Amino acid sequence: MRIIEVNDYQQMSKRAAEYIINKVVQNPSIKLGLATGGTPIGTYKSLIEDHQKNGTSYQKVTTFNLDEYIGLSSDNKNSYRYFMNDHLFNYIDINKAKTNIPSGIAPDFQEECHRYEDIISRHGGIDLQILGIGSNGHIGFNEPGTSFGSKTHIVNLAPSTIQANARFFSRIEEVPTKAITMGISTILKSKEILLLISGEKKKDALCRLLNGEINESFPASVLKNHPCVTIIADKVAIADLEVQCL
Ligand code: GLP
Repeated sequence: MRIIEVNDYQQMSKRAAEYIINKVVQNPSIKLGLATGGTPIGTYKSLIEDHQKNGTSYQKVTTFNLDEYIGLSSDNKNSYRYFMNDHLFNYIDINKAKTNIPSGIAPDFQEECHRYEDIISRHGGIDLQILGIGSNGHIGFNEPGTSFGSKTHIVNLAPSTIQANARFFSRIEEVPTKAITMGISTILKSKEILLLISGEKKKDALCRLLNGEINESFPASVLKNHPCVTIIADKVAIADLEVQCL
């Protein structure tokens, strides 16, 4: 794993956007894996600014999001489909038909998981997957204990994840308790992974990722088995890890 240390959230976002733009310019038909949550919002903002200023085009790009809440439709402001439209897709020239997110209102969720896994394979897999990390080490919505061999599947969200994500909802009771997520093996099949980590709340997760064992109790640890992972982390998240880790 390669670690790039930056000063703050803003620099992390700018650096991540530059990284992505460079890949899109090199390969205009790139398959991007995208994440939601607070972490990538600044990156998406920078992608939009670049698109408006420099005209980087996403017309041929295909995207696959990591996950979606079960029970939320695309017009629900808390669905990840709404999030992606609102934070990125509505402001760049991407063809929305080429943006893929699991459906939170599919008639058969098991079937939806198979469909999603299949559509990623049929596109030849993901070239660059953007990831955030939960403070319990979750990636996508793969909570601690998820098998490293898992494919796209249905999850029961951990109480700590529901608590952490409640900030986006008006009441914690509104946070769905289930989601569909790409599995860990789905994520690991990506040719390249860009993991973004910012802030005090992610300090322990980063420390455990860098210093801990590779273990299903900490899902992100599996990234150490991947040949091409870049972490962009800010100073607060890295903090006093520097001596041990860099
Ligand atoms: C959410 C998402 C993850 C995200 C994580 C961290 O539950 N499913 O993809 O990486 O939590 O979120 P944040 O960036 O808001 O800290």
